[in-house]
Amino acid sequence: MAASLLASSLSLSRSPPFPLLLLLKKPYLSLSLFPISSPSSSSNPSLLRLHTHRHSLPLALRPRFKPYSSFTSAHDSPERASLGGEDVLVLGIETSCDDTAAAVVRGNGEILSQVVSSQADLLARYGGVAPKMAEEAHALVIDKVVQQALDNANLTEKELSAVAVTIGPGLSLCLRVGVSKARRIAGMFRLPIVGVHHMEAHALVARLVQRDLQFPFLGLLISGGHNLLILAQSLGNYVQLGTTIDDAIGEAYDKTARWLGLDMRKGGGPALEELAREGDANSIKFSIPMRQHKDCNFSYAGLKTQVRMAIESRNLCVDDVPLSAATFDDRKLRADIAASFQRVAVLHLEERCQRAIEWALKIEPSIKCLVVSGGVASNQYVRCRLNHIVEENGLKLVCPPPSLCTDNGVMIAWTGIEHFRLGRYDPPPPPDEAEDAQLDLRPRWPLGEEYSEGRSVARSLKKARIHPSLTSIIRGSAMQQK
Ligand code: KG4
Ligand code: ZN
Repeated sequence: MAASLLASSLSLSRSPPFPLLLLLKKPYLSLSLFPISSPSSSSNPSLLRLHTHRHSLPLALRPRFKPYSSFTSAHDSPERASLGGEDVLVLGIETSCDDTAAAVVRGNGEILSQVVSSQADLLARYGGVAPKMAEEAHALVIDKVVQQALDNANLTEKELSAVAVTIGPGLSLCLRVGVSKARRIAGMFRLPIVGVHHMEAHALVARLVQRDLQFPFLGLLISGGHNLLILAQSLGNYVQLGTTIDDAIGEAYDKTARWLGLDMRKGGGPALEELAREGDANSIKFSIPMRQHKDCNFSYAGLKTQVRMAIESRNLCVDDVPLSAATFDDRKLRADIAASFQRVAVLHLEERCQRAIEWALKIEPSIKCLVVSGGVASNQYVRCRLNHIVEENGLKLVCPPPSLCTDNGVMIAWTGIEHFRLGRYDPPPPPDEAEDAQLDLRPRWPLGEEYSEGRSVARSLKKARIHPSLTSIIRGSAMQQK
């Protein structure tokens, strides 16, 4: 990798850069059906992780292509209602950040294959997601990952019903790799294509895992680039109760892990969670962010600064001494910082969730569940603390297994199925689409509409909204049909 390229593209933050390219052809989305199968997981994030369920089903049901403007509901046509049946087979492709993932899922929720190729080694080496390098890494493995997903599912492209792919939010260079691949397959095999919102997919995968999870529900989506509290009212219809005004919690975990000299090859979050188990969580007094703001927004930049200062003021020198070589006292100090950071980072989540539950119950008294998903939701401490809050409020916590919390192709395929079922998809692209065709990529794409009573006064919330939210597109489309 050329050093100059590296220098120009290296970014220490996981938040998406300004979009390089974007052009709206027309709004597109799609979806389909319900639940289950028992997903498996792997503990080695740096390898291709293969999860296979063999299948032996007849040829997939092929939908008739409907232009977006003619969407109606799934219930108005028996033909379309059947689009979510178990004969439906959707390939999901995910390349929005640093994992290249693909999976095949059946309309009834059965996971036929799941493949993830992680860039953890690159992340460990360079300290963050560098868009250009991440793009190259995706491009290098995308064909292999998709082929592996098809092989593991014992399928060829011809047998698919549709291809679902993440179109945003994320790094546009990375999104482009997945979207191009999806369009090549869809064009060649005349398959409809479903553009998926990455954060919606984190939320909806809970409905694959938990068959009876109905709308409305409350969702906390916590990842490397996002911190969202949403009220999910129906498919594609979300109220954003809170978001981060600066960094997401995963970014704070990753940075703290790096500053503590942890082995980043297994991911900053998991490494920090492990070390925190050895530490005293009350030993260092970090303050809880945004307590004076009685809303549901988040902030992690200040906590990061507090951690940095704690490390510097204790003359903890981690640069030359990896954790494995640290003295007993040094290791204890790092563990205390890790545990104290984690306690406060999660307390912030707890406080915001408590308020969000109160708000959500006022808006939708029938909610029964809090869905917690996204990479950070694979953390056991996070799950345990949030479970208390949820139970105290008479709700239920729904948390996908770790392999479905971190980025994966299953959640994209599943969200594709959910929308496909409602007839929300695009027709196949032309088989001879040019390599450099302008694509509908949405690097900054809000999920829901902001809850008006929840606006923060503390905002430096980045307002550069490139696209209308998913919810406003879906509502607009529904209005057009009336
Ligand atoms: O959802 P995700 O896989 O990718 C994004 O969409 O960002 O989330 C990745 C984030 C990273 O910051 C990673 O360190 C964090 O999730 N993460 C964790 C754990 N596993 C992954 N954070 C804390 N504890 C974990 N066990
Ligand atoms: Zn994610």
